[in-house]
Amino acid sequence: MKLRQWTTVGVVAVATVAALNTVPATASRPYDPTAQSLAALGLRHGLQVGTAVSIDALNDASDPQYRRLAASEFSSVTAENAMKWESLEPTRGAYNWAPADQTVEFAKRNRQSVRGHVLVWHNQLPGWLTSGVADGSISKQELRDLLRKHITTVVNRYKGKIWQWDVVNEAVSDPWDTPSTLHYKGFWAENLGPGYIADAFRWARAADPKALLFYNDYNIEAFGSGNPADDKTQFVYDMTKGLRAQGVPIDGVGSQGHLGTQYGNYDTLQVTAALKKFSGLGVATAFTEVDVRSQMTAAVQAGNSEEINPRLQASAANFSVLMKACLAVRSCLSYTVWGFSDNHSWVPGWFDDPLEGLATIYDENYQPKRAYHELKSDLIFAGPPYVLPRITPKPRR
Ligand code: XIL
Repeated sequence: MKLRQWTTVGVVAVATVAALNTVPATASRPYDPTAQSLAALGLRHGLQVGTAVSIDALNDASDPQYRRLAASEFSSVTAENAMKWESLEPTRGAYNWAPADQTVEFAKRNRQSVRGHVLVWHNQLPGWLTSGVADGSISKQELRDLLRKHITTVVNRYKGKIWQWDVVNEAVSDPWDTPSTLHYKGFWAENLGPGYIADAFRWARAADPKALLFYNDYNIEAFGSGNPADDKTQFVYDMTKGLRAQGVPIDGVGSQGHLGTQYGNYDTLQVTAALKKFSGLGVATAFTEVDVRSQMTAAVQAGNSEEINPRLQASAANFSVLMKACLAVRSCLSYTVWGFSDNHSWVPGWFDDPLEGLATIYDENYQPKRAYHELKSDLIFAGPPYVLPRITPKPRR
């Protein structure tokens, strides 16, 4: 029976929350859920609320607020860049572990779990690797050996310290790519063929028997037409189903959750349905990189509240849709935001034509925005019978 393969973290989580909430409800200090952190409120449901962290910001002596909020509001952290291949091995054979190590140590000090990000991705690869392949000095066979070595070395170093690993990231094309029929895209598929995906999961599992191994992608928050030729969620669903059928040790599917208020986006029931369908494959789910950006028109930049307010409102609504769906589905183990404050968000640097921003849950001065309060109320008002403790799969061997 499928259920036997699952263990519940709910009991542990409830115990932890009881410990966090032992402040007696006296007349002078009644229990006030709104004064609790997102982390504490998430644990009421066994849900980890996480954030991506920038190592430069954590180390910035002049920015203590960043460290304080990263430590206090979240129960999980993801290195925003420090565990990417170009950061870890900028020169062939010479590893730069310090920023990744520091991230893991920060999490340990603050009793947070770590989402490892990322083992295999076509972006942020070291120049020596991509140029070696381009000029033919690295053969296909050597490339495969290098990938195996990279995965083994990194997973081994952090063995026992990583809760969830993003093993493969963004392997699937988008409808605006060429050809528009969805396919496996990018450096790895082009050089090794799609078989690298199963290999990567197997190599990661060989190095760490306990970490939950995830596939991670964007634009898979809800199903579309149901045709894998143009519905990315369906494509990823079929891929996951195929990998599971082959016995590949994939334990979870992460939905990044990069949304924009200018798009239609989804409602809670659509997102819930997608999470449920993935859970039906026996895998965990998670939101791994949530942010909701908006276009920064001249009026927004000039501080015009008539343009700013609807953006903040729509951003909050989208954060909330993903949170409610996650809460409603017991396989949804974590909800991670991709940076928590607008002064450290990747959005303006990445989406600059037209400029986008306002994507996170705190403003540039670390003041909580509507999105923060909505997430908080979602966590406060949730409970049985609709919202139940999380169920974690046993790592697949
Ligand atoms: C982004 C980082 O936030 C930026 O600092 C970096 O310059 C580019 O990458 N999907 C992912 C993340 O899986 O790793 C990306 O992070 C954002 C999109």
